[in-house]
Amino acid sequence: MFTLKRALLTAARTNQCRFFSASQNSWNNRKGLVLGVYEKEGESNSFDLTTAARSLDDALSGKLSELLKISGPPLKKGKNRIFYGLHEDFPCVAVVGLGKNNAGVCGSENWDTSKENIRTALSAGCRVLQDLEVSHVEVDACGDAQAAAEGAVLGLFQYDQLKTKKKTKVTTQLHGSDDMAGWEKGILYGDGQNLARLLMEGPANLITPTVFADTIEEKLAPYSERVTVHKRSQGWIEEQQMGAFLSVSKGSEEPPVFLELHYNGSPDKTQAPLLLVGKGITFDSGGISLKPPSGMDAMRADMGGAATVCAAVVTAAALKLPINIIGLAPLCENMPSGKASKPGDVVRAKNGKTIQVDNTDAEGRLVLADALCYAHTFSPIAIVNAATLTGAMDVALGSAATGVFTNSDWLWEQLHKASVVTGDRVWRMPLFQHYTRQVTDSQLADLNNIGKYSRSGGACTAAAFLREFVTAPHWAHLDIAGVMSNKDEVPYLRKGMSGRPTRTLVEFAARLAQNSSERHSQEFLF
Ligand code: BES
Ligand code: ZN
Ligand code: ZN
Repeated sequence: MFTLKRALLTAARTNQCRFFSASQNSWNNRKGLVLGVYEKEGESNSFDLTTAARSLDDALSGKLSELLKISGPPLKKGKNRIFYGLHEDFPCVAVVGLGKNNAGVCGSENWDTSKENIRTALSAGCRVLQDLEVSHVEVDACGDAQAAAEGAVLGLFQYDQLKTKKKTKVTTQLHGSDDMAGWEKGILYGDGQNLARLLMEGPANLITPTVFADTIEEKLAPYSERVTVHKRSQGWIEEQQMGAFLSVSKGSEEPPVFLELHYNGSPDKTQAPLLLVGKGITFDSGGISLKPPSGMDAMRADMGGAATVCAAVVTAAALKLPINIIGLAPLCENMPSGKASKPGDVVRAKNGKTIQVDNTDAEGRLVLADALCYAHTFSPIAIVNAATLTGAMDVALGSAATGVFTNSDWLWEQLHKASVVTGDRVWRMPLFQHYTRQVTDSQLADLNNIGKYSRSGGACTAAAFLREFVTAPHWAHLDIAGVMSNKDEVPYLRKGMSGRPTRTLVEFAARLAQNSSERHSQEFLF
């Protein structure tokens, strides 16, 4: 045994193992494999292999577990170790630590720890292989093929379109499991979030309102049988009397677009739609109330609401969810110019309410006000809007969770349940009259676009403002400013714009679709 260990270790170092022949595997199309390993309950110095890792270990007469033991301490959660030349099909095998087996849902963390551990471990495993320029990776399902696929797809994403030197493009494949349905679902969920990341990370000179709308139209083209796209022009926006939206867009040379997506997935064509609305400021300079220069570049992602809701519609279409969804995105830039709105200006929203614009940097609530009025014209089952609305939301919760302000306990429960599964969490915030009083106190108009005590409870006064444009009984406002970008808090996302909470929106829609199709089939039976 001693000689075998030494031979394998030497081979690993020199890449000349007898299980690996360089002639069979050319340098740039090598295959990699990511396998999981659990911490053994009650034994700090031991481990348990996943089913896939165990069967590879058996095929190699125990070499994998042998190497794991001699190469270092048991792999901690999220850590990885690479073995070279272990198997002739896989020159590089990354073994990743999954933490404890069957960790399940954690009441205090409000997420499914097992799923999060799988996403984290597999993302790390895929990334180390990508860094080794491995172009195809087989991935251990680790008992949850969907979470495994999400980890792989999210972990491998890198926005390097505009760089000369790019990361290796890696294709992925499920290993050692027949749960192809779960795997493919996970790929679509991950791709959805990556689409939102792509739009959010893209610079504002490239992702203009027009380019944003064209990109989404292109992504929806394969589903044209069930999808209609309207790219509403400035003329249409004027006809709709969306004075609040126009007061923001008028400072910019870029024309605004009101993007309207209809996904008709329900077998019942008359079924009331789910309305998703997203703030689509492709760049927020603050307008005449100009922002300070430090960190202003991040305001290219101020269309994160539009990006996540539109990506959720694209994903719903790809998943063929049996539900009707309408996605709305008021898209424009917020710029200072001779034509821009000035502090103290009064504008009229689509529902006739007048708004005193005391701070042109509080523009998100203005574009959303008109979009929410329009959303009501479709008699929706529920309205959910997402917006990078306030810096105060980031102060309150940071990137731990999206803040949810809702008038509906039912809607809160649905969103919360969805977020426990996705790990992209939500946290309920208040909609007290206390805040409403602070935005309905205006010298010149019905409303003021900033709260009377502007710094206090900024996320809550913004939500109270939006509520003035809502009559629907089931409405939720998601303030996603805190989760807009990722430094290193979410371990399975690289640094950059996060695309959060796209997967939670998709999961929410999927659950709604399931509930309504169950109701539909019951009605059909009786
Ligand atoms: N887009 C910003 C909010 C934001 C800040 C999003 C940081 C993501 C990260 C929004 O339009 C804004 O500027 N809000 C102001 C409101 C204030 C003027 C009442 C803010 O939060 O400071
Ligand atoms: Zn702003
Ligand atoms: Zn903004």
